[in-house]
Amino acid sequence: PAAPLAQVTIIGSGYVGLNTGAVLAYLGHPVVMVDRDEQRVRDLQAGQPVIFEVGLPDLLSQTRAQTTFTTDLRAGVRDAQVIVIAVGTPPTASGDADTRAVEQAAQEIAEGLQDGQRCVVVVKSTVPIGTNRRVKSVIDRVLHARGVQAQVHYASNPEFLREGMALHDTLYPDRVVVGSDDPEALRALQQLYTPILEQTFTPPPGLPRPDHKPLPTLMSTDATSAELVKYASNAFLAVKISFINEVAGLCEKVGADVSEVARGMGMDIRIGAGFLQAGVGWGGSCFPKDVLALQAVAAEYGYTLPIVQAAGEVNRRQRAHMLERLQDALKVLRGRQVAVLGLTFKPGTSDLRESPGLDLIQQLLRRGAHVRAHDPVALSGAQALYPDLDLDWTPSVEAALSGADAVLLATAWPEYLHLDWLDLTRRMRTRVVLDGRNALPAELLRQDGVAYMGVGR
Ligand code: UGA
Repeated sequence: PAAPLAQVTIIGSGYVGLNTGAVLAYLGHPVVMVDRDEQRVRDLQAGQPVIFEVGLPDLLSQTRAQTTFTTDLRAGVRDAQVIVIAVGTPPTASGDADTRAVEQAAQEIAEGLQDGQRCVVVVKSTVPIGTNRRVKSVIDRVLHARGVQAQVHYASNPEFLREGMALHDTLYPDRVVVGSDDPEALRALQQLYTPILEQTFTPPPGLPRPDHKPLPTLMSTDATSAELVKYASNAFLAVKISFINEVAGLCEKVGADVSEVARGMGMDIRIGAGFLQAGVGWGGSCFPKDVLALQAVAAEYGYTLPIVQAAGEVNRRQRAHMLERLQDALKVLRGRQVAVLGLTFKPGTSDLRESPGLDLIQQLLRRGAHVRAHDPVALSGAQALYPDLDLDWTPSVEAALSGADAVLLATAWPEYLHLDWLDLTRRMRTRVVLDGRNALPAELLRQDGVAYMGVGR
């Protein structure tokens, strides 16, 4: 195995930065994690991981000796061999990704680099086409103005980690994409990732190596293609989900079962079984943002992406369709008690961004329904985020369902799937179940007289 690097500095201790930093430290590289949020850095120094991710607290405490947390970016890059930019690129009102934090990081990196320093600046944030070039020009300009001679190499290195699976996806990726035409940058990233590319590390407790998984490929390409690999991958996955949701609607009309259709389709290795689960639609901090950002990039070049655009439309229609089905079952929504289970955009995360459950709750409230909301991890988070929503934040599923007219499962938390659904639905006033994730025992409930509705079956 290749030797560890002298120092890796990661800028941004958000989701991507923190998980990447913890893994790189675990692989043996000394890691400096920089964030401008003082409270966040203090929390991290005190061993509080600030984001909810399975396994992260353990990995951070295991790698304490390898890791430094600081707000001082300029000092943090001074001895770095590799500098990873992992700051946020939130959407602007028009859907573009806001890259100001990336440019700010580039500016401060250049202010911190020393004469004679050799390093690779890696952009890991999800960024619009041309941002890597922009980072280079900002750094060049500042170095020139300072009269500092540093040898800086550049690479784009997008990430493909899923929330709730971040450590697993970082340790066991399908591929590592490096966009750079600079052999020096490529060499450094190869060294950085050798333990992952060759799978030579001992798996951390609770994160076993998956069976029969081929070694990840390092795909080296130009920076612009690497930037696009990231957006196109997320857009494609969103299209795939919207596609199966579209088919699910047809299944409801013709009496087919979308899970069976997806199973049959997924056996074709050209199609693949992943991301064919019909449901309430996609949400989260990535798909909605990246689908819009890709369209914004295309628009800049006078080009349109009708398939990507349609994926967004189908996603919105899917949520509207959920409401229509509840309305059909209950006839009148106004004044009805509707329990909504699951507020995070998917299980295994506390992230509420672009959450289908929260969107549906707001639409239900607008139609006059009374909502009882539940989530196993994000109840207080949601309450804090939406203090003005007039609804019951219920601390237990029993409380949410007792006397309710309908229940909507928006997020398939494992905690929900093992409940006694016969008993729970018997406590309801009317036993209407809209299973937005096709995760509940449909047959059992139907046989007991529950008006069970799945998605596409
Ligand atoms: C996604 C990608 O999967 C990652 O590869 C990528 O790195 C990440 O975005 C990112 O850009 O940072 P994530 O947003 O964490 O990861 O969540 P996913 O597991 O992909 O789920 C996204 C949404 O699609 C969720 O709302 C989920 O419920 C929904 N989904 C997913 C379905 O409705 N059906 C499926 O079959 C799969």
